[in-house]
Amino acid sequence: MSLHWPSELDTGIAVVDRQHRRILELINLLEVHLEDGDPEAVEEVLDELAGYTLSHLAFEEGLMEQAGYPLLESHRRLHRSFEESIFALAARHRAGEAVAAELAELLRHWLFHHIRSTDHDYVPAVQALLARRACAATERPIRPRRLFRRR
Ligand SMILES: [Fe+2]
Repeated sequence: MSLHWPSELDTGIAVVDRQHRRILELINLLEVHLEDGDPEAVEEVLDELAGYTLSHLAFEEGLMEQAGYPLLESHRRLHRSFEESIFALAARHRAGEAVAAELAELLRHWLFHHIRSTDHDYVPAVQALLARRACAATERPIRPRRLFRRR
């Protein structure tokens, strides 16, 4: 089932919204490949989705840090535990389990709940940072990872 981006999830920070939307696009793509029953394409998109998501978390933390956001540490802890869930799924995948649907569900749940509650809290601090600098945040290149490759 392909999901559309609900506009209430927009943070108003263009670079962050672009990354969140890209994660949803990749979740939708994963589900297309799952329906097609194409294991190689599933593995490829699993890797891209996991790698992109991990880079996005690091990017967000960089913005919060530069903004002097006071709740950075608790936000970081939520990111780390979310990362642990991704790593655990990747390990199960490499051990031969079929985890793609579970990963899609985990990410979808995170996108819709974490963004709505936790991410929205940092928006004023990050917007103030970007206004001070009078520039948009620069994205870091996405680090290539091969978390979900069995070979
Ligand atoms: Fe976050």
